[in-house]
Amino acid sequence: MAKPIFLIGFMGSGKSTLGRRLAARLGYTFLDLDKFIEDRQQAIIPDLFAKYGENDFRKLESKALEEVSKLSDIVIATGGGAPCFFDNMEVMNQAGNTIYLQISPRQLASRLASSHTERPLIKGLEGDALLGFVATKLEQREVFYLKAHHCLTGDRLTVEDFLPFVS
Ligand code: S3P
Repeated sequence: MAKPIFLIGFMGSGKSTLGRRLAARLGYTFLDLDKFIEDRQQAIIPDLFAKYGENDFRKLESKALEEVSKLSDIVIATGGGAPCFFDNMEVMNQAGNTIYLQISPRQLASRLASSHTERPLIKGLEGDALLGFVATKLEQREVFYLKAHHCLTGDRLTVEDFLPFVS
């Protein structure tokens, strides 16, 4: 039974896409924390933000994280804000293996601009406003992200890049 692998990083960093591939490669289950919360709450993330506000969403997110931290043989893609609230980063670091996907703000903004996922924090932002938001928010959040056990840097990460850190 292997401890969970947590993929952390900003919105648009590829946690879900790469997480799914990594899980398949390792023969593990894949879990998307946002999806787990949506299933539990029977509501999508934008509606949860609208209904409860960000503060209460963060409480739901933290509880969900505690719960999934007990699982094994699993790759967990966390929401971009999850590591930055409460003691979530410590919970993940103690429960398993944490990997930060470090992507440049420009690349993140470009991916987010063409993404179809609705994200409350960047709703209505585009062009330079989106890039500015990403750069500022990422700078604030990196303090938390960099507490991860491992940091993978690059705008074109593939599943092979993870393999040295997950055996
Ligand atoms: C958020 C990231 C989203 C989701 C919510 C808040 C954030 O997840 O949890 O919209 O605070 O960065 P992704 O990182 O999967 O987009």
